[in-house]
Amino acid sequence: MLASFHQLLLFVLLFIIISSVEHGSARVTSSFVRNEWPAVDMPLDYEVFAIPEGYNAPQQVRITQGDYEGKGVIISWVTPDEPGSNKVEYGKSKNKYEFTAEGTVTNYTFYKYKSGYIHHCLVDNLEYDTEYYYKLGAGESAREFWFQTPPEIDPDAPYTFGIIGDLGQTYNSLSTLEHYMQSGAQAVLFVGDLSYADRYKYNDVGIRWDSWGRFVERSAAYQPWLWSAGNHEIEYKPYMGEVTPFRSYLHRIATPYLASKSSSPLWYAVRRASAHIIVLSSYSPYVKYTLQWHWLREELKRVEREKTPWLIVIMHVPIYNSNVKHYTEGESMRTVFENWFVKAKVDFIFAGHVHAYERSYRISNIHYNISRGDRYPVPDKSAPVYVTVGDGGNQEGLAAEFIDPQPEYSAFREASYGHSTLEIKNRTHAFYHWNRNDDGKKVPIDFAVFHNRYWAGGQQRRRIKKNYLKSVTGNN
Ligand SMILES: [Fe+2]
Repeated sequence: MLASFHQLLLFVLLFIIISSVEHGSARVTSSFVRNEWPAVDMPLDYEVFAIPEGYNAPQQVRITQGDYEGKGVIISWVTPDEPGSNKVEYGKSKNKYEFTAEGTVTNYTFYKYKSGYIHHCLVDNLEYDTEYYYKLGAGESAREFWFQTPPEIDPDAPYTFGIIGDLGQTYNSLSTLEHYMQSGAQAVLFVGDLSYADRYKYNDVGIRWDSWGRFVERSAAYQPWLWSAGNHEIEYKPYMGEVTPFRSYLHRIATPYLASKSSSPLWYAVRRASAHIIVLSSYSPYVKYTLQWHWLREELKRVEREKTPWLIVIMHVPIYNSNVKHYTEGESMRTVFENWFVKAKVDFIFAGHVHAYERSYRISNIHYNISRGDRYPVPDKSAPVYVTVGDGGNQEGLAAEFIDPQPEYSAFREASYGHSTLEIKNRTHAFYHWNRNDDGKKVPIDFAVFHNRYWAGGQQRRRIKKNYLKSVTGNN
């Protein structure tokens, strides 16, 4: 009886939150001004960049999803002195490695910098929801890690994603990463701009990719980071004779693009627990008839909302954002893909690029017609929520100036460093947080409960309609 009373109370509270948060129309521009640490990179001899002990010891270890369904991981690492072994030893209990997988090795040069030996190894056919231990290297240089596979694809599988963008390698980046690691999230959706190594010149570009790889290992070796590329990965440097785009990124970062029939590691999709995640490339061709356009059209057909109700898209450049920095840079992609996003009822679009946090209401501008006068985004219950999390903490600092007044579509915005988490509860509900780095502390600031766009049923549809009308008429 007591339990059911608590359940009822919880339900009532949840109802109030749901009614007031997602579909509310109170826009917030946070007045918080953080006591900003200097946006400088941590020195190379700082402890977070420490080189593991032992000759040729594996470093920069990280994992990402290795297949379409979540039963595989790609394990990547670098050996500095010689190629060494491509083998991963792994198993279900610590110190007992019953299985072996064989990977590949590559290296590259960038100006006069010579990379270490970069290994990528697919470990697949794993069991769902299982802890695995793995070992890289041999003898005194061997290193051991572990990870947990996701639950089987199921519409009600709970799963928590972290969202991090524009991370870099400053003291603020460290604060973001440490706070993220306390969040309990199980995998990272990374929205581009990784190391900011391209801010350096000559051999330091490669050296700063290596230091960044060692920095993020504390999380990325133990849970998958799903990667998308940003402008800082392009590295077009004619003065050094380096003109091949994404050269460092494509050598270092593995993605399971073939599993989703993509022709490029820069755009792909995976299914994980109850989510279907689509990764797009803001800096690869996407206009009509390009490879990415063709691929996305096909991938959207493969989405099965009965199995993976949560449809999430990640990219680098935000489509809706009201910061002065990079304002409307996402318009070109919006004109090509927004129609599809609305038609497919995408739940969330996470982006980075702008070094501040912002969350939108559900709006679309698919009826844009300048001669008819339809120029502005309007509330649209089938539209995604657009979230910009480009506030990881890189050396370029914050984008502190927002467009004033705050546009109708903007729900919350604040220029601070931080990260987000998306806590999927079941097929209908997800809790969403943005956490600010407040001078060393993790402070949850923006919170919303979201209804799934596909499974939002009868009664809830009516409530959306009511709030939608309210927000259109301004009758609040
Ligand atoms: Fe960027």
